[in-house]
Amino acid sequence: MKITILTGAGVSAESGLGTFRDKGGVWTKYDLQEVATPQGFARDPEKVIDFYNMRRKNARGAKPNAAHFALARLQAEFRGEVELITQNVDSLHEAAGSTALHMHGAHGRARCMSCHAKWDAPLVMAVDDPCPTCGEATTRPDVVWFGETPHYLPEIATHLASADLFVAIGTSGTVYPAAGFVAEARGRGARTLEINLEPSNFADLFDDVILGPASETVPQWVDTLL
Ligand code: OAD
Repeated sequence: MKITILTGAGVSAESGLGTFRDKGGVWTKYDLQEVATPQGFARDPEKVIDFYNMRRKNARGAKPNAAHFALARLQAEFRGEVELITQNVDSLHEAAGSTALHMHGAHGRARCMSCHAKWDAPLVMAVDDPCPTCGEATTRPDVVWFGETPHYLPEIATHLASADLFVAIGTSGTVYPAAGFVAEARGRGARTLEINLEPSNFADLFDDVILGPASETVPQWVDTLL
């Protein structure tokens, strides 16, 4: 049996990292057009770099919660295959021991727009940082902005098509292509499960739903599988 899991900001909420669209969420405080688009970066690179410096700093002290640990346990102990896809740019899945495809990148990584090299981002990035490979001052956080193509889409398509069970955890189902994964997996025959604080935008496409805080619901669900 193969389980393909998509996680969103809700899985890291109880680690103290804010979500995007809940009350007090990141996009209620910042204009995403300014800080999370290629156009915003072209207009004011310093503002964008500072925004991700702030987010990287906030995330530095965060620890994985029981949901991250339960997913790592599932990946290690389940007798079938468990593929984890995350929209999150934090590294809490890895800190808990999971391997995850970061479709929206990671704010702990930097990349060069000239030679496409990638490396671990320093805690504080600067607009004129030279690329460690080619020396050009064309560096940016390795995060995917609105209007850009997410990472790993071919691998993800395979994991959706071959899933027996697709599970979405802590995501509102607002941002495509991730919002469309449930329909894609369902169309290819997967059973679908939503684990969230409240029903998401595509609640009717899930066969089953478990509502509640991820730190409680995810370990309980994993216990039923192992
Ligand atoms: P959202 O902020 O849109 O949604 C978070 C979801 O988590 C909501 O459905 C909440 O109900 C749920 N939630 C909150 N606390 C929870 C908890 N303790 N346990 C379980 N669920 C909880 O975040 P995402 O769906 O991840 O992209 O957002 C998707 C993308 O939009 C992000 O990756 C980011 C953002 O703009 C980019 O920056 C490209």
